[in-house]
Amino acid sequence: MKVLIIGSGGREHCLAWKIAQSDRVKEIFCAPGNGGTQGLARNVQIAPDNIKALGDFAREEGIDLTVVGPELPLVKGIVDEFQGRGLKVFGPRRQLALLEGSKVFAKEAMAKFALPTADFRIFSAEVQAADYIRQKGAPIVVKADGLAGGKGVFVCGSVEEALKALKAIMVDKKFGKSGNQIVIEDCLQGEEASVLVFSDGKNIVPLASSQDHKRIYDGELGANTGGMGAYSPAPAVTDVLEQKVNTEILQPLLCGLNNEGKIYVGMLYLGLMLTEGGPKVLEFNVRFGDPETQAILPRLKNDLVQVMLATIEGNLDKITLLWDSRPCVCVVVVSGGYPQDYEKGKQIFGLQEAAKVSDAVIFHAGTKKENENYFTSGGRVLNVAALGDTLEKAKARAYEAIEKINFENMYFRRDIGWRALTKPKKELI
Ligand code: AMP
Ligand code: GLY
Repeated sequence: MKVLIIGSGGREHCLAWKIAQSDRVKEIFCAPGNGGTQGLARNVQIAPDNIKALGDFAREEGIDLTVVGPELPLVKGIVDEFQGRGLKVFGPRRQLALLEGSKVFAKEAMAKFALPTADFRIFSAEVQAADYIRQKGAPIVVKADGLAGGKGVFVCGSVEEALKALKAIMVDKKFGKSGNQIVIEDCLQGEEASVLVFSDGKNIVPLASSQDHKRIYDGELGANTGGMGAYSPAPAVTDVLEQKVNTEILQPLLCGLNNEGKIYVGMLYLGLMLTEGGPKVLEFNVRFGDPETQAILPRLKNDLVQVMLATIEGNLDKITLLWDSRPCVCVVVVSGGYPQDYEKGKQIFGLQEAAKVSDAVIFHAGTKKENENYFTSGGRVLNVAALGDTLEKAKARAYEAIEKINFENMYFRRDIGWRALTKPKKELI
């Protein structure tokens, strides 16, 4: 088979790495890929949202399966476009990619199917939204409706802060049309966790649980980022909790959508807040999580291509996922200054040495290869994942590999996995 992977981050390198292990796969292409995918795949210089050009490429090259990493092509309808051309593609169609592409659509679906989530109101005018914020008081959460590169959510500790967020979204149009509507919702307290599932429309197959670390500094301090690290499994996601998520969230959502003739096919990511009143949905993503995927897939024993084909063909009832029982820790290495301004073009040293650490694997994100050297080309540079008999050992191995790597202004968090490692044992039962 020939497989095309769309995207350029650590998640896509990880997908390429896992897909390359499949006996069925003869050749992999990445559009556009990065310095790391270059060793496994042929990088093709087509932007992930240039759907028409991707479709042309897939047809001309005779691609048998296309796997979409980021949300933008899904929200722009790549699955509809490819299916219309008779091309096999993994992901939901545009109408359901809106579960991620529109927070208004997502919250309306949550309300319609009675899923547990924060109470909310939707506004398309600033004045009414401001009145509501003053009436509710803080803490309060303000969200731009559309895609905003992960920057459209403001968790506000004061009314002033919420009004400032509202102005940035609706008046200054910081996120363009994505701010035509906003969601204002109650602020939930608790621990966050991610649950990822394959769905073929009839059957749901959950992946191993995971948790990511969104803040830039140790101890969950500083700015929100695209994720500074992740680990799997997440002890907070117990079997009982998983069952609750299935009966209270996944079944009502997917059955409700089915009844409307909307069949969800692909990967569904639930961002959850584990509150005292049970799990509540913070967000849906319609794709593999980043960096969760880089902590989950090293543990998966199945042939990922077989699972993806079963998802597309409606055969997930025939699939049982098998997991390496060892935990995996993935640490994200970034350019100093990220998520704000940072410099690019720094040479990266020590990658070969790092890859020699046993059970460690280095996924590239913002890198490019020139001759035999690697250089930084983005804020998120590398994802260093490692398996170990215990979470402590997995963590130690990931950091052992990182110690071998260096580039100017390199930064990473040193406490990935802390939540699971500091949890009192009784909570793990
Ligand atoms: P979202 O993209 O909607 O998941 O929001 C991004 C992040 O904002 C989440 O991972 C949470 O950390 C936080 N967040 C979103 N909604 C809420 C909420 N209702 N209460 C507390 N934190 C939230
Ligand atoms: N780790 C969060 C995300 O993939 O959106």
